[in-house]
Amino acid sequence: MQTSETIHPDNIGPKSQMDMKPARTPGRLQSWTFDPEQGIALLYGDHANLAIRFVSEEIIRVQLFEQEQPDWSATVAVLDLEQAVPVMDVTETETELWVSGAKHTVRVSRAELSFQLLRSDGEPVTGAHQLEWDRTGTRCIGELSPTAQLYGLGETTGDLNKRGEQYTMWNSDVFDPHVPETPSLYQSIPFLVHFDQGQSYGCFLDNPGKCDYDLRNRPDAYEIQISTGKLDMYLIADEELKQVLTHYTALTGRISMPPLWALGYHQSRYSYKSQEEVMTIARTFREKQIPCDVIYLDIHYMDGYRVFTFDKEQFPDPQQMMTELVEMGFRVVPIVDPGVKKDASYSVYREGIQHDYFCKKLEGDLYTGEVWPGESAFADFTKEEAARWWGRQHQYYTDMGISGIWNDMNEPSIFNVDSKTMDLDVIHEHDGRYSTHEEIHNLYGLLMSRATFLGLRELLEGERAFVLTRAGYAGIQRYAAVWTGDNRSYWEHLAMVMPMTLNLGLSGIPFCGTDIGGFAHHASGELVARWTQLGTFSPYCRNHSLDGTRYQEPWQFGEEIEAICKQYIELRYRWLPHLYSLFHEASRTGWPILRPLLLEFPQDAETYGLSDQMMVGSQVMIAPIYRPNTTRRAVYLPQGSWVDYWTGEELEGGQYHLATAPLDTMPIYIRGGAIWTEAELASSTQYQQWDTIHIQLYANGTGESATSYYEDDRQTYDYESGASQMFELKRVQTEDRLSFSVSRTHTCEDAASVKKWKLTVRHLPRTPQSVEGLEQQGDSWRYDQERHEVIVETSRIEFEINIHFPSFLSGHSCPRPSGD
Ligand code: GLC
Repeated sequence: MQTSETIHPDNIGPKSQMDMKPARTPGRLQSWTFDPEQGIALLYGDHANLAIRFVSEEIIRVQLFEQEQPDWSATVAVLDLEQAVPVMDVTETETELWVSGAKHTVRVSRAELSFQLLRSDGEPVTGAHQLEWDRTGTRCIGELSPTAQLYGLGETTGDLNKRGEQYTMWNSDVFDPHVPETPSLYQSIPFLVHFDQGQSYGCFLDNPGKCDYDLRNRPDAYEIQISTGKLDMYLIADEELKQVLTHYTALTGRISMPPLWALGYHQSRYSYKSQEEVMTIARTFREKQIPCDVIYLDIHYMDGYRVFTFDKEQFPDPQQMMTELVEMGFRVVPIVDPGVKKDASYSVYREGIQHDYFCKKLEGDLYTGEVWPGESAFADFTKEEAARWWGRQHQYYTDMGISGIWNDMNEPSIFNVDSKTMDLDVIHEHDGRYSTHEEIHNLYGLLMSRATFLGLRELLEGERAFVLTRAGYAGIQRYAAVWTGDNRSYWEHLAMVMPMTLNLGLSGIPFCGTDIGGFAHHASGELVARWTQLGTFSPYCRNHSLDGTRYQEPWQFGEEIEAICKQYIELRYRWLPHLYSLFHEASRTGWPILRPLLLEFPQDAETYGLSDQMMVGSQVMIAPIYRPNTTRRAVYLPQGSWVDYWTGEELEGGQYHLATAPLDTMPIYIRGGAIWTEAELASSTQYQQWDTIHIQLYANGTGESATSYYEDDRQTYDYESGASQMFELKRVQTEDRLSFSVSRTHTCEDAASVKKWKLTVRHLPRTPQSVEGLEQQGDSWRYDQERHEVIVETSRIEFEINIHFPSFLSGHSCPRPSGD
């Protein structure tokens, strides 16, 4: 807690003369070299040098360096793109040097080596960037136009647009507070997205030490300051923001397909403290028929908080528990923290010491810090051998049938020191570079989750692994889903879920979510109902709460709240095929599942600051209620035709609407022409059949629309070698005809799941006259007059139908149904 002393004049007064000393810049260009084979230009200045490397046509790496040659090594965040080096050229003018690829040019001033990225037609992509340093650190100052908005930066508090904020990339265990001025949370993703009237670029700073982002102090520029390591950044540019995300995630990686069960509903509590309590929770879900796939084991399952153990008294027969849970369609995800209890009789600690796997000080002393188990040692995950050893430890769980692990406290969080993290002078082996903890602090959580994921992957012999992590760095999406740590059961925190999740999505992390209902503080039923509604569409969907607070399972607040939670969790289960296809899209493009509107409507300035409405993919919009006692809210619908999902009312876009939302309603809007897929409801994904897939088609409006439906076995990595099927679902609609087709774009019979399509066409412009294309046996269609819908059923895996509407002139005629 802070007191008024924080604002003591000495703490906030003007900077000293020393601090005011002017910063140094690289100075005038003295000489330059150019290596077209490597795609590298090196520019030598009076005081420092600039390296420019075209990683691809759209990704340009810029590094400040002092020696003869730059250090091209990168962190684990960066993947080898294995692309041919783009063609490059350097031209000189009196005042500038132009380093050009086919699509972009870096314009460097001779005077001070400031640089700006341009398109090949000369249009600026970025403003001018100046590099400088003083005794506080090294900075990059990038010019901003008055209309520029800033997004990304991973997990931060505050609004969607980050302009006007300050953050520090430094993974921190912040139990309290999560407020707009909290500088750091658990994740550090130094990827800043710049968006200016539909034009965008990204700037990824690959530095896992402390990085300060000041997006406030200069009215016309942003400032990034590092205190250790090198200033090494990647400017990523393309026509559209979606493409920028695709390039960024080509560089730092994308999610692999999670097992389907990880997309189900997860229930957690710190902690379910005994085997009996876990079983009671599981049975209650099944009795109440509320779908649920996963139950979590928080720290109380362990023997004295020793990782890779069970408490024998409270959990007398974990294997029996697992067997029963699996039979009931549940998975179990236990927590695994990095701290290994210092205890000479504990085998994990002994092995770690014997093989030199733990972090040490330079002088060779073991580093220990206090966490849940008391004094603990920490594996040095930068050491490949130690990481592999950690991964293998998980056999303890996989032997029991566990395939998901929850990594917590991996900032790492340390209780007994002011810094609340590992000593900064701990030495990490780091591929022989022997880095201090200070230099690579933000990598610790990522490396732990990487070790966990790779270990599980090997142990599970083909079954997909699931890892959840609290801490991470750029690239974490390759190994783990991310949850946003210890939020509170406050309405303000429900509101914060939206910009936080959206910016995580814009930072390459689509698989993310928050503790539904809030972790700390006592939740009310109303809050849990509203949070569960939003959680329905959260890529990661887990309800979790703190010991000593009111229990938060869906049934803890009476029948009304239980029914609402059940209704929305069921909705999620029905929509799983659509969500799964969006996950597949994310794995190929890096696009988020939950999207800010500006990603889908980049030309509509009204969307740029909207952070309380979100797109689920590109066709569905949700507008959650995030205030108590609120049953109405304003909703902005961009240009086009929309439908209120609940009432079926057709609405015109390009304006605000007042949504009515009693407690059981979260406003959902469907874009005209939308198509998505659903499965039949089940209490667990384990029981969910995807043989009949329901296609929902909204036929309001003419034109074309399409979506993809992706399927594989939903549990193994066989899809990586092609065992998957991909379908294109396409609608072409004119005034008097709607053509709809399902065609396979990738086929693998082994992965085939769908055997029957059930298509419902809603919001027909007029009563249909006929449906063509359903002449085969087993095909059928009918027109539901009351609901004004056409329902088609077919067992043909690929099909095309045409629904004809009578022309306005010929008047209405009765439809001629076929089949039933
Ligand atoms: C941390 C986690 C929280 C967990 C608790 C006990 O506070 O953020 O989710 O329940 O530790 O393990």
